[in-house]
Amino acid sequence: MGITTTRIATETVPGDAIVHERQVRPCALVIFGSTGDLAKRKLVPALYNLAKEGHLTDGFEVVGIGRSAPNERAFRATHEEATKKFSRTKPVDPAVWEGLASRIHYVIGDHESADTYTRLREKLEELDRTRGTQQNRIFFFSTPPSSFPVILGGLKSAGLLHPPGRGNGSPFSRVMIEKPFGRDLKTARELNRMAAEFVSEEQIYRIDHYLGKETVQNILVLRFANSLFEPLWNRNYVDHVQITAAEELGMEGRGRFYDETGALRDVLQNHLLEVLALAAMEPPVSFRADEVRDEKGKLLRSVRPIYEHEVADEIVRGQYQGYLDEPHVAKGSKTATYVAGRFFIDNWRWHGVPFYLRAGKRLKQRATEVAVHFRAVPLCLFGRDEVCQRLEQNVLTLRIQPDEGVEFSFMCKQPGDDVYVSNVKMDFSYARAFDRPAPEAYERLILDCMRGDQTLFARRDGVEEAWELCTPILDAWENDPAIPLYDYAPGSSGPKAADDLLKKMSHRWRSLG
Ligand code: BG6
Repeated sequence: MGITTTRIATETVPGDAIVHERQVRPCALVIFGSTGDLAKRKLVPALYNLAKEGHLTDGFEVVGIGRSAPNERAFRATHEEATKKFSRTKPVDPAVWEGLASRIHYVIGDHESADTYTRLREKLEELDRTRGTQQNRIFFFSTPPSSFPVILGGLKSAGLLHPPGRGNGSPFSRVMIEKPFGRDLKTARELNRMAAEFVSEEQIYRIDHYLGKETVQNILVLRFANSLFEPLWNRNYVDHVQITAAEELGMEGRGRFYDETGALRDVLQNHLLEVLALAAMEPPVSFRADEVRDEKGKLLRSVRPIYEHEVADEIVRGQYQGYLDEPHVAKGSKTATYVAGRFFIDNWRWHGVPFYLRAGKRLKQRATEVAVHFRAVPLCLFGRDEVCQRLEQNVLTLRIQPDEGVEFSFMCKQPGDDVYVSNVKMDFSYARAFDRPAPEAYERLILDCMRGDQTLFARRDGVEEAWELCTPILDAWENDPAIPLYDYAPGSSGPKAADDLLKKMSHRWRSLG
């Protein structure tokens, strides 16, 4: 079938910032795990780009805690090299880097020893006096969750965690925590309970970096800043929804972590369920953090649970061929590198509409998207079978990455003296429409934490809701050896069993390129 593509001309008007009434305040950002992969690949490059765009205020300082660099100079040099490699903007501007480097400090120490926290306190007090950090601190935990209690305990004993102040100007202590938030419902609850002993919920910034992506945030703008979509956004017009996070890459040296984690814990439990919540939730009362997070929590509570005995019918797991030969993967590992599932949302808006979620490694193409498939027309008016068979559903696709944008496909008459129809596309592309590249997720998230804006961070109840949905699936896989783990060829679209899952309701996955 001939497919033509129509480009829409897009004219941008400067937008009003809707969520940024709050100011970025001076503070010290303390990074635990400061020479690890995340700090090198994401955090410090994000700080560099924030500095480049003039977002770092006076009184912003960084303190790395670690043991692998022998001194401050070596620590800065490690990050300079990494930033040159991983920064989203290149080449790195030496003047901007030097400016940032002069704000980077290093405290040698191990997070298990009380001395480290004493030296950290001395350093932070010095920065308050000499650099104007105003006793404001953000502690970034780029370490495994098992170290959280020790670090929080060390900070507390050193008097570094003040309770949230009342007025806007009172000093703050905030903690930024990286996923995974637990391995299942029990461990997530335990982690949250433990964190609550040291800090209150308004001090905890749980990162799901998907929420920092422009295109994920655009789901809310598309839905609630346009009058066109919302009336159609329900069971009366939507046939089904597909949410995909497909990756071409495999383990990339993360075999040890991944083998203990797998696709369900790594991506579906967090990134995909966050996207599902934003795509399907009710309009919030306002864009304030708790109101958005209330709606997301409510949506996740309405997702119909999949009980252990239903897992074999509703969820497909797969492992790519060759996974067992990846470094640090256990012999005979049953870890799923692919997961697909059919979920229903039991509320008035979505009752009966399947939401298909899939995530996998080593697939045909990198593609993260939400595709809303609208119901077919009730009747074909065009008479002949060969024309009617060509009618396809309208699909609105929110392309989260790559080639960020929104695409709408609809039927159109082919030019000619007879009625033939074609599926055509309107295509909005961020890169073509806006002249400035989107910031990386961590840039936005660090800035929001400095502002004290929790909208884009996961709240305790949301995380636990997501685990509540995923834990029976993990339990079934663990307890029932009869549930198949399908293999799939690297570079394919995943196991065939995932196609069969959709066939039950006569649906078909969107092609992965
Ligand atoms: C991370 C997962 O949270 O997200 C990785 O641990 C995955 O396995 C990554 O590759 C995907 O993120 P992005 O931003 O590259 O799509």
